[in-house]
Amino acid sequence: MKVLLATQKPFAAAAVKGITDILEAAGHEVAKLEKYEAQSDFVAAVADTEALIIRSDKVTAEVLDAAPKLKIVVRAGAGYDNVDLAAATAHGVVVMNTPGQNSNAVAELALGLMIFMARTQFTPATGSELQGKRLGVQAYGNVGRLVGQKAKALGMSVHALDPFLTDEQIVAGGAEPVHSVEELYASADYLSIHIPALPSTIGSIGYDLITRMPKGATLVNTARKEVIDEEGLLRALTDRPDLKYVTDVMPDNYAALQEAFGPRVFATPKKMGAQTAEANVNAGLAAARQIVDFFATGNTRFQVNK
Ligand code: 3PG
Repeated sequence: MKVLLATQKPFAAAAVKGITDILEAAGHEVAKLEKYEAQSDFVAAVADTEALIIRSDKVTAEVLDAAPKLKIVVRAGAGYDNVDLAAATAHGVVVMNTPGQNSNAVAELALGLMIFMARTQFTPATGSELQGKRLGVQAYGNVGRLVGQKAKALGMSVHALDPFLTDEQIVAGGAEPVHSVEELYASADYLSIHIPALPSTIGSIGYDLITRMPKGATLVNTARKEVIDEEGLLRALTDRPDLKYVTDVMPDNYAALQEAFGPRVFATPKKMGAQTAEANVNAGLAAARQIVDFFATGNTRFQVNK
């Protein structure tokens, strides 16, 4: 089968080699499309592809229409909001993710961003420490749980909200359960967001929630920019000059935020939470193995459009 590795943001060389080795050893042919400039380049590259490995690359209906032989798309990572699942299902294409494989990298970055803001973006101004502060974790899945556990090791107290987990599961994961999003925000010196971008979550974090945060709090977003109501964020930071926002997913209104709030806001220039050699290898090789297994045995364990 022909497998296309389409990564606008390329994997580390070790991951590309590992992916290629796994697929070729199973008799598949590997093509690569890395650092492409335009979506039309992606569309043009899929014509004879039977399998795709992607990251945040956008698998739209147009891509699927252009790939008549396509059987499977594996998103090497967790979030699959970049794949048009309905169109994939309509085309009979199986879509999978590789849950958990890049979680540690994202969790480490979330903690790193907290320290970066606590230490005044590494300027000589007097900063503060994470020890003794309260961390709220919004969604206690693969990433959220790791953030909570690492934060505890730094001496933070950890509260978590996750409607898909029981209190016992949250406690077993090292956090105190909280039962409403309002309560979570109201008790968080640092609030780390780990919810996916879904119709029900898009724009869900806005003025009302953000202004519930205690004095001097920092909102940390290593999830998706879409979950933030950006206009509400701007108003919240205006009305509450003590609050800060740090994100790995640059807001559309970042220029306005920077102009209005300076060092109280920071966004990484390109999403980099999962951009470690280790996470690239973990997620990339898992994706390759899932494709090999899918064609060899029909295994659809990680399918997300069932
Ligand atoms: C994910 O959903 O796995 C992360 O957001 C990482 O995305 P990336 O592979 O584009 O860096």
